[in-house]
Amino acid sequence: MKLASGYKDFWDAAQKNYPDQMRPGGLLDQAMFDGINNVLNADHSDRFAKPSDRAWMSSIYPWSADKRSTKVGALAKTYRGLILLKTPFDLALYPRLIWELQPRTILELGSYQGGSGLWLADNMSVLCENSGEVHSFDLYTKCVHENATKHPLLTFHQVDLSDASNLDENLLMRLPHPWLVIDDAHVQIFSMFSYLSNFLVSGDYYVIEDNPVFANREIIDGFQLIEQSGFLIDTYYTDAFGINVTCAPNAWLRKS
Ligand SMILES: C[S@@+](CC[C@H](N)C(=O)[O-])C[C@H]1O[C@@H](n2cnc3c(N)ncnc32)[C@H](O)[C@@H]1O
Repeated sequence: MKLASGYKDFWDAAQKNYPDQMRPGGLLDQAMFDGINNVLNADHSDRFAKPSDRAWMSSIYPWSADKRSTKVGALAKTYRGLILLKTPFDLALYPRLIWELQPRTILELGSYQGGSGLWLADNMSVLCENSGEVHSFDLYTKCVHENATKHPLLTFHQVDLSDASNLDENLLMRLPHPWLVIDDAHVQIFSMFSYLSNFLVSGDYYVIEDNPVFANREIIDGFQLIEQSGFLIDTYYTDAFGINVTCAPNAWLRKS
């Protein structure tokens, strides 16, 4: 499969060229290779889970970790000098998804300084075979740095996301699929999902960042809506570093 395709090539090359090093204690020890391969293998049959089948406990929630270390470290991230508010876990996950999905469109709700949009656009230009576009939406676009606005794949839009219908429907209709939608604005997340999910097609992804770790009524109802809309949780991403060790617990969602 796509995510682990390099591992088979490594295995074949090592077997052919350095069989002695594949034995226990060798520099290319087979047991070590098997261990890595098992962790990274995303082909397991229960990869996609219904929201109603998932518990809400996460093993670590990055934003609520020790304020003097992890949280500050995560919030203090920059990319090419601009603020980028993603946890180290999520920074390691998005490139894998972009590589696997090969999105033609990334929609980011919540631009902040534009650092995350710039990072997504750079990832897209390196990891995707066909060129795509990144559209980032925020109300306070005057905070977006000019270095981000110069990226050829990246466009910023000033929109009040408290009402999903403020989004330009003509733009949404023309954007090519697959899509990766990242809701990092935290306003009306489920009405926004309800609106945008109508534009998504099978295989598209919708990630909801920073939703509460513990389910309240709004979250339970919201995830019921997500399930009824035909989305499944991709546990390859939610659980890559331990159950829900991500800023989007239970919310790396794939449209069936
Ligand atoms: C957490 S920040 C986004 C962080 C950014 N995506 C990153 O990873 O660096 C949330 C953003 O949502 C924007 N936002 C909040 N309410 C909004 C609204 N009603 N309409 C549009 N944008 C809004 C804020 O201006 C802020 O830039």
